[in-house]
Amino acid sequence: MTIPDIIIAVDGFSSTGKSTFAKLVASEFSFLYLDSGAMYRGVTLAGLEAGAIAGGSIDEDALLPVMAPLDLHFRNVEGATKLFLGERCIESEIRGWEVSQYVSPVSAIPQVRAWVDEKLHKFSEGGRVIMDGRDIGTTVFPNAELKIFMTADEAVRAQRRYDELVLKGEKTTLEEVAANLKDRDYRDSHRETSPLRQAADAYVLDNTHMTLHEEVVWMLGLLQGKFGLLESPGLKC
Ligand code: DC
Repeated sequence: MTIPDIIIAVDGFSSTGKSTFAKLVASEFSFLYLDSGAMYRGVTLAGLEAGAIAGGSIDEDALLPVMAPLDLHFRNVEGATKLFLGERCIESEIRGWEVSQYVSPVSAIPQVRAWVDEKLHKFSEGGRVIMDGRDIGTTVFPNAELKIFMTADEAVRAQRRYDELVLKGEKTTLEEVAANLKDRDYRDSHRETSPLRQAADAYVLDNTHMTLHEEVVWMLGLLQGKFGLLESPGLKC
């Protein structure tokens, strides 16, 4: 038995390791990985660079015309999916502190969500996709064949994110990172358009005390339960 060309939706709170998990699953089971949060981050970066976002506020009237013609797309670079703005790889810039500060309110703008959703549907036309985000299983692909909702202890998430930022050389504190996570979780789950919710048919993955290997083994069990024994269940990781 092989896994059919399904769509796998991975949703959950900030810094629960959705993208790390989704990337590994994509590589283990030959899926295309798409990071929907990167699209919101790309719009935010473009808004900052154009001056539509500055000094703590977002000028929606200025942001929407900046966004409309943006050529944001994913490319496979040496086996990894990276976000490009035209010919420029912006994968690293979109993960910075400034973009993280503004991305949640930017992603709450309904026109931004509609624009991103349309792109995500276009990118997924070939099928066999694993996509992570906040509303993939509820709004973007409500008929996804497999939905996963990821969660982890708040303090563990803050520490993971802080370690990531420190590794990148960003100057911040654990308290600041924890406050930003709390704020984003609140905004993401309380906004009017497509708030973060667990889909009724989602499988919950709480990875507070799990290694990445254990997460992939959990996924293998889930896939085998759904599709029967896989032809080659040997894992790479
Ligand atoms: O997963 P992330 O932290 O890179 O996402 C960045 C922001 O984008 C996050 O604050 C919530 C928002 N987002 C969203 O609203 N819907 C999605 N499908 C993905 C991300």
